[in-house]
Amino acid sequence: MKKRRVLSGMRPTGKTHVGHLHGILENWRDLQDQYECFYFAADWHALTSEYKNTAIIKESLTEMIIDWLSVGIDPRRSTLFVQSWVKEHAELHLLLSMITPLGWLERNPTYKEQQEELAEKDIGTYGFLGYPVLQAADILMYKGNFVPVGKDQLPHLEITREIARRFNYLYREVFPCPEALLTQVPNLGGIDGRKMSKSYNNAIFISDSPDVLAAKIEQMITDPQRAYRKDPGDPDVCGLFPYHRIYSEPAVVAEINGECRQAGVGCRDCKRILLQKLQEYLTSIQEKRRYYLAHLEEVKGIIHEGTERAREVAQHTMGEVREALGL
Ligand code: TRP
Repeated sequence: MKKRRVLSGMRPTGKTHVGHLHGILENWRDLQDQYECFYFAADWHALTSEYKNTAIIKESLTEMIIDWLSVGIDPRRSTLFVQSWVKEHAELHLLLSMITPLGWLERNPTYKEQQEELAEKDIGTYGFLGYPVLQAADILMYKGNFVPVGKDQLPHLEITREIARRFNYLYREVFPCPEALLTQVPNLGGIDGRKMSKSYNNAIFISDSPDVLAAKIEQMITDPQRAYRKDPGDPDVCGLFPYHRIYSEPAVVAEINGECRQAGVGCRDCKRILLQKLQEYLTSIQEKRRYYLAHLEEVKGIIHEGTERAREVAQHTMGEVREALGL
């Protein structure tokens, strides 16, 4: 039986942090067992917010794909590619833009949110409004059945589905209607307790050295009500505890959960345990990163090969699309 297809993309806008790792990349890795996967660097999407500082895109792109490889995304099983190298995405974006009502885009909650959040970036552009149309082109191009994304991307996926239905209705049935594979994103806050984000400068990167990790864990905010070691703490409001859930064995998590509430364990000890686990966890990923960083030609070969494979599929789809439109 033919494997069903998964497709997802990530914007190269900076270093990979542990939120990406556990929220997205490990999921991408595991999906390879069951599906035919296409994963790509969405550099045109990155451009919608970074058009004034395009250097960041180039700096992040290869490293981001190295991070994918280091986490176990396997180029022999999955197709890894760069969006802007497959120009068909631009053509499909244009054609889909013809049938996408403005209202769908203007009503998009992500659009409004980002406008406010990234106020300093001037994203009142045509390109940014069309972000979901480009995303629809990415997904529909490969006739993806499933799209692994976090909750924040659901409105975009909904627009993709509407565009697919509208295309199929207006012309002919070309696109399957893709479904979201909702990723459970663990609640890993930044070291200051706010949402982890590179613009807040509070992220833990998978490339952080042991020293940097130690300094970051040291700074992490635990239960703010717990002023003294003798006070009981509350793991439910502690910024550290969700990390234990990921990195420590279940027995340790249970013990910390119980002991913290009775002041049996202090924040300092708790941080020491976490630091060790986190370092252990990242060691093997970092070893692989070092390997790929020292073998950039191999990485480039992987990306070129993946892009060729993606392009073949894209050209096939575009043939059908042009024909459906009578072009
Ligand atoms: N918008 C996605 C994000 O910010 C990135 C993306 C671009 C994407 N194209 C996609 C995700 C296609 C899934 C499918 O995370």
